[in-house]
Amino acid sequence: MNEKTWSDVDDYFAPLVAEDDALRHASAASDEAGLPAIQVAPNQGKLLYMIAKLVSAKKILEVGTLGGYSALWLARALPPDGKLVTLELRPNHAEVARKNFEYAKISNAEVRVGPAIETLAKMKAAKEGPFDFVFIDADKPSNLDYFQAALDMSRPGTVIVVDNVVREGRVIDASSDDANVKGVRKLRDALANEKRVTATVLQTVGYKGYDGLVVATVH
Ligand code: SAH
Ligand code: DHB
Ligand code: MG
Repeated sequence: MNEKTWSDVDDYFAPLVAEDDALRHASAASDEAGLPAIQVAPNQGKLLYMIAKLVSAKKILEVGTLGGYSALWLARALPPDGKLVTLELRPNHAEVARKNFEYAKISNAEVRVGPAIETLAKMKAAKEGPFDFVFIDADKPSNLDYFQAALDMSRPGTVIVVDNVVREGRVIDASSDDANVKGVRKLRDALANEKRVTATVLQTVGYKGYDGLVVATVH
């Protein structure tokens, strides 16, 4: 078994995931604008969409927009009066995402530009939330800060998903000096002692290689 098999299997199941034109457009436009191709895979985006639907999410928060690919999946899970807020450091990424929302005729997704730590602090101060679903997928060293901010703007039942927590298994290397690995390990230690959430981890393979997701619910 190898990476080719993983992505061939993603190809095989693609017909049931059924990524549509606007989603394909979002990835293509991100590529054309020179953004890194690190958006969630279609099957992962659809999982986010399905979880958001399952909890009837009306307010969704995303940390890490890129070109808006995962945001599109999430926005589509919302009812007409729902709202997605997605946070992005880089103005050029935000601009690509806004255009992709427009192409997809999504009008209830808002990109806020700036370091997410600062945007989240402002949101907390403004008593925004509670959010029903939070997707954390930005710079990995800040994972725990983002998770705590998400908790502060949550309610019982809120689902929090964190991307990229396995990193080809590098996460188990206690002596790693990779800041991304350290960020995930810090989150893992905190979650093991966090009484406010129930959490699990799924390892994944496919188009995005070998990685994984934390899925947590707030009680
Ligand atoms: N969720 C997206 C992928 C996000 S990639 C998708 O699946 O479609 C990670 C994004 O986080 C990048 O666009 C990067 O610019 C952004 N980012 C990095 N550091 C950040 C920070 N401090 N605050 C906000 N966004 C940040
Ligand atoms: C990277 C970031 C991601 O969010 C991801 O899903 C894959 C890779 C990265 O920074 O390399
Ligand atoms: Mg990611």
